[in-house]
Amino acid sequence: MIYETIIRPFLFLSHPETAHHLFLSFLESVSKSNFRFLFQYAGLQYHSSRLQNSLEGIDFPNPIGLAAGFDKSGKSYPSLSELGFGFIECGTFTSLPQQGNPKPRLFRIPEREALINRMGFNNPGAQNAARFFSQQQKVLPRGINIGKSKLKPFSQASEDYLDSLKKLAPFADYVTINVSSPNTPHLRQLQKKKELLSLLRPIQKNLKLRATSSKGHLPLFVKIAPDLSLNELDDILDVLVEVDASGIIISNTSTDHHSIPKEQREKGGLSGPPIRQKSTELIRHCYKAGTQLLIIGVGGISSGESALAKILAGASLIQIYTGYIYRGPYLPVKICRYLDRFLEKNDCTLKDIIGKEE
Ligand SMILES: Cc1cc2nc3c(=O)[nH]c(=O)nc-3n(C[C@H](O)[C@H](O)[C@H](O)COP(=O)(O)O)c2cc1C
Repeated sequence: MIYETIIRPFLFLSHPETAHHLFLSFLESVSKSNFRFLFQYAGLQYHSSRLQNSLEGIDFPNPIGLAAGFDKSGKSYPSLSELGFGFIECGTFTSLPQQGNPKPRLFRIPEREALINRMGFNNPGAQNAARFFSQQQKVLPRGINIGKSKLKPFSQASEDYLDSLKKLAPFADYVTINVSSPNTPHLRQLQKKKELLSLLRPIQKNLKLRATSSKGHLPLFVKIAPDLSLNELDDILDVLVEVDASGIIISNTSTDHHSIPKEQREKGGLSGPPIRQKSTELIRHCYKAGTQLLIIGVGGISSGESALAKILAGASLIQIYTGYIYRGPYLPVKICRYLDRFLEKNDCTLKDIIGKEE
């Protein structure tokens, strides 16, 4: 409540991107100061053995992750790890450092608790990100999300992703191939069957080679758009099964803006409650297809109920972004508590309820 009544109005006085940087700088300075112990006393953590899960060889203390795009540099991973999440996905990283699109490029739609962004993969580049990670202690499972550099031609997409992968894989617990941001020209074309297959084959080959030479299997996920038809999703599932991917992240932001007022339809990707239903429908379809792919559900989660809905539709893990901006830093704890009580009441485990919609 304090967040919604006092902190959020203050943060929302500044431009969304400035507020984001203020939040990250505040976190980082607390994390590096003598006041670091405050994280423990702030009640931001929730521990329960019912919420722990081991998937693809990764131990998740709880199923609530921070979605990609929040920590675009990788620098904030240590402080974000103190905030009650079960895992953090960093990035999107590209092989070349990028400034991203001109500002303003992030917009609030408070009436719908939604955002539109056209950031354009602003990030320090894979090499610099690898340097930041090499100086950090790894506390929580860390996903590394990779995208295509804007300046690299479409025909060299595969090499470009591989370039980033080689630099960043040593710091990842899983790798996400992002083919669904609406803010990099033509990126979404990589979701087409033929293109996706030629993109993923060399990537998976590299990961498998790495598995034999280093710490073992590094799970591969692909992140898709919520704007796909069910047939298009089926094509993607075929490819993911063919290349033996571990899972799918459903979903990125949407280019379908019809659910928000015309004057607020900025160019970019829409996130938050307006995309909740579409992403859940795709999760349900994917789960029912019976591929055994692990599903990370993301899109419009802003409460325990909306998190549970994604799990019941078939997600083994979930992620939040926009809900965190509107509901504040206690959202992971609130979701954890809600899920834990649900499991206790029904005397079951997380695994028992995945995909078990009425
Ligand atoms: C400002 C902003 C930046 C984002 N940047 C990325 C990104 O770099 N890579 C990515 O895969 N997803 C990115 N996303 C998408 C989120 O990870 C998430 O998939 C999407 O916002 C839907 O979840 P939500 O409704 O909880 O926000 C971004 C979202 C926002 C709002």
